[in-house]
Amino acid sequence: MKKICVIGTGYVGIITAACFADLGNRVVALDIDEEKIEGLKNGKMPIYEPGLKELVDRNVNAERLSFTTSYAEALENTEFAFIAVGTPEGVDGEADLKYVAAAASSIAQNIQNELIIINKSTVPVGTGDWVAKIVNEHKSDGVPFSVVSCPEFLREGAAISDFMNPHRVVLGSMDEEAADKVAQLHLPLRAPIVVTDLRTAEMIKYASNAFLATKISFINEIANICEDLGADVTEVAAGMGYDQRIGPHFLSAGIGYGGSCFPKDVKALAHMAEEKGRHPQMLHAVIDINTDRRQMAVQRVKEMLGKELLTGTTIGLLGLSFKPNTDDMREAPSLDIAKSLEAAGAQVRAYDPIAMEEAAPLLPKVEMFPNPYKMAVGCDLLMVNTEWNEFQQLDLEKIHDTMKQPFLFDGRNIYDPDKMAQLGFKYRGVGRGYDGRVADK
Ligand code: UGA
Repeated sequence: MKKICVIGTGYVGIITAACFADLGNRVVALDIDEEKIEGLKNGKMPIYEPGLKELVDRNVNAERLSFTTSYAEALENTEFAFIAVGTPEGVDGEADLKYVAAAASSIAQNIQNELIIINKSTVPVGTGDWVAKIVNEHKSDGVPFSVVSCPEFLREGAAISDFMNPHRVVLGSMDEEAADKVAQLHLPLRAPIVVTDLRTAEMIKYASNAFLATKISFINEIANICEDLGADVTEVAAGMGYDQRIGPHFLSAGIGYGGSCFPKDVKALAHMAEEKGRHPQMLHAVIDINTDRRQMAVQRVKEMLGKELLTGTTIGLLGLSFKPNTDDMREAPSLDIAKSLEAAGAQVRAYDPIAMEEAAPLLPKVEMFPNPYKMAVGCDLLMVNTEWNEFQQLDLEKIHDTMKQPFLFDGRNIYDPDKMAQLGFKYRGVGRGYDGRVADK
């Protein structure tokens, strides 16, 4: 059992804290937001994540996990301090490091014994060295410390299982002994452990996210060409994915990527390259293609309804969150899409299993419905924004019969075009030249 403190109880922080506690360690999670800590003490989770509440409750009850706003308390006899604070997008796509700087200086002011500071937040290459400098400047003499980079690769919605079953653990440090101690902490996860220097570890995180975003923008570009040439991108992706050099993952065409990571990280990487005088053309193409997906979606709705102006039409959005199993609305494509549809004159409605509460203040004119059936009544067109499992099981016949016009734009390709046509829908997916022909019949 090791004593660990985790600074920041946002997405990465609370998952890291709960999972390390579940591995048998004694973990104190710290946040400067008193309301958040009060909530956690009363069993209220700061985010929605499947399985998180049960995990937190179990470890709090076992007295392995506790919460505090006090650095002095969190760092008492602590060997490892994880920094897991937010790194929001600043000007020019640059990551804003004010929370990392604040955490580093607070750690320094409260350091009591030899400490390994591990950075989990996604930070620009070179931040580890900068954190070490801040700690050195603020701590009292004689207390040894090391900085290790351990980027997180968790996906929202699958974060606990991703933490417990990582594809790899990346550790970067100039201090081999510290890296080895952090490696020991991760041994129960039985994953390959890559040990490298600080800057390389930080770069692995950006390069991984940028590569995944590139796969998505690549398949979205192929989707456009498929539409023009009458091919089906879902089958193209499946056919490509069997090649082990390509792999089947992250090849789902649709309305593009959103969330708190890909949009921000690809921009931040481009920014770092530009600062060094480079022209990161591929990263810019990835960003441009993704931005265009949202306008493509609005254009598709207009084409389907045969109108440039959508005045007098009612459009129902199935799903709002940037992906399933989360209520996260950060950079969700649905935000831009709903606003553009409204700007074109449409009345927009929405249903999302989890994210409506988060989305309502961001989309004040969108009317939220308690279920898809009520939402569909009188709609001219339904659009799938998020591939929630429950949308697979909808009684589509019932929905079809209550709509004003049976148009369905499937922005995530969750339905079978032939079945939708049989049900009487005027259906279009993304990159499915074939369904285009069905819809044109
Ligand atoms: C992503 C990475 O997958 C994680 O490994 C990483 O740790 C995390 O960012 C982070 O840096 O914190 P996340 O943003 O939770 O995780 O979500 P993903 O499942 O990767 O999806 C991102 C977006 O891409 C979603 O909007 C999703 O709809 C979209 N996507 C994903 C596609 O459009 N097509 C695909 O084939 C896959």
